[in-house]
Amino acid sequence: GYDISSLLKETGNVTLDGGFTNTASCTSAITYIDGDAGILRYRGYPIEQLAKQSTFIETSYLLIYGELPTPTQLAEFEGRISQHTMLHEDLKGFFQGFPRDAHPMPVLSSAVSALSTFYQDSLDPFDKEQVEISTIRLLAKLPTIAAYAYKKSIGQPFLYPDNNLSLVENFLRMTFGVPATDYEIDPDLVRAVDLLLVLHADHEQNCSTSTVRLVGSSQANLFASVSAGINALFGPLHGGANQAVLEMLERIEKADFSTDEFMTKVKNKEDGVRLMGFGHRVYKNYDPRAAIIKDTAHEILAKTAGGDHLLEIAMRLEEIALADDYFIERKLYPNVDFYTGLIYKSMGFPTRMFTVLFALGRLPGWIAQWREMIEDPTTKIGRPRQVYVGEGERNYVPVSER
Ligand code: ACO
Repeated sequence: GYDISSLLKETGNVTLDGGFTNTASCTSAITYIDGDAGILRYRGYPIEQLAKQSTFIETSYLLIYGELPTPTQLAEFEGRISQHTMLHEDLKGFFQGFPRDAHPMPVLSSAVSALSTFYQDSLDPFDKEQVEISTIRLLAKLPTIAAYAYKKSIGQPFLYPDNNLSLVENFLRMTFGVPATDYEIDPDLVRAVDLLLVLHADHEQNCSTSTVRLVGSSQANLFASVSAGINALFGPLHGGANQAVLEMLERIEKADFSTDEFMTKVKNKEDGVRLMGFGHRVYKNYDPRAAIIKDTAHEILAKTAGGDHLLEIAMRLEEIALADDYFIERKLYPNVDFYTGLIYKSMGFPTRMFTVLFALGRLPGWIAQWREMIEDPTTKIGRPRQVYVGEGERNYVPVSER
């Protein structure tokens, strides 16, 4: 019930851009996206090349330090990370405080926030060495925290990290391994998880990354900022979408309506139902990550049992959407999450771990963006303006007279 253009005139020199659809919050040299052309590059390298030839550790180095590492730099980086994978015993105690059915995402963000209480001597955002050790600690400990959040939810004991293993091998062992039992590492699984982490490693100023930067702009420490990013990622319109996609496919599988009937509901916006895993704020073309994933989804699902029927439903949904005017007019294409949930499920991850895997992947991006923000001398505290639409001035009425 208000006239926005006259309000804007009254408010003076502000831009009203809810959702920041057309407002850049910073300059950045990390990730380049051309949403119309479906292009994604980290530090100039096309995502297709990194997906094929790089690894998650190397890509993390690239994002954070700006260049691909030499063999010595890479070995040193990996070595440092593997020395910091353990959690303080007192931090391990935190996991016991959550209810057994706790979702692992809030457990993850709480534990990351708590890290700042264990490392109070290295929280100065302007001390390069302190930022460096916090970076290594986060990269090393998040997989351990993620695996423990999972172990807690299924009531199994925690496994100590094995520092002879790579980051992904270690994570898989701590997640799926059982004490006193050998965990056989499947190199194909390791490679597939590594690829998914590479694809999620950064995506410029998305909701969680912008959150990390905004919190960090108050000069809050890296742990506090990343913890906030994890909470932003938890929402179903962002990182929670991979879980939501799988739940949607399972609902369609169990329901007595067909895939086509479901799509009619989506188009009619019945109960606000959306085709999860479709659409993107920036990509108005096929998400290049979805294109890479689509090929691997078939390979991985062919190897593992289960999930195939859900894949069929997903393929049918995609087929309908790509030929339907509703989706064509709105430029709605599959995003990376349309396929990742299916892949994670076939790997044996429970649905609630999907967004945790996204967080593991996005971590180097959050760190790189936070460091870029802190190092930029032009950074100001993030403080948006508003257009006030509330009451004008009025007099207080004592409670006895109301
Ligand atoms: N299914 C059906 N209709 C959709 C969908 C969808 N998935 N996405 C957008 N639309 C429609 C909207 O209803 C709207 O239609 P209208 O013009 O008739 O009102 C139009 O397309 C534009 O949509 P907006 O919501 O304005 O687009 P926005 O850029 O704000 O949203 C978002 C992007 C949140 C990703 C949206 O497409 C969505 O909700 N998708 C499903 C959730 C999802 O997959 N999220 C993952 C994002 S990627 C990531 O985090 C890795």
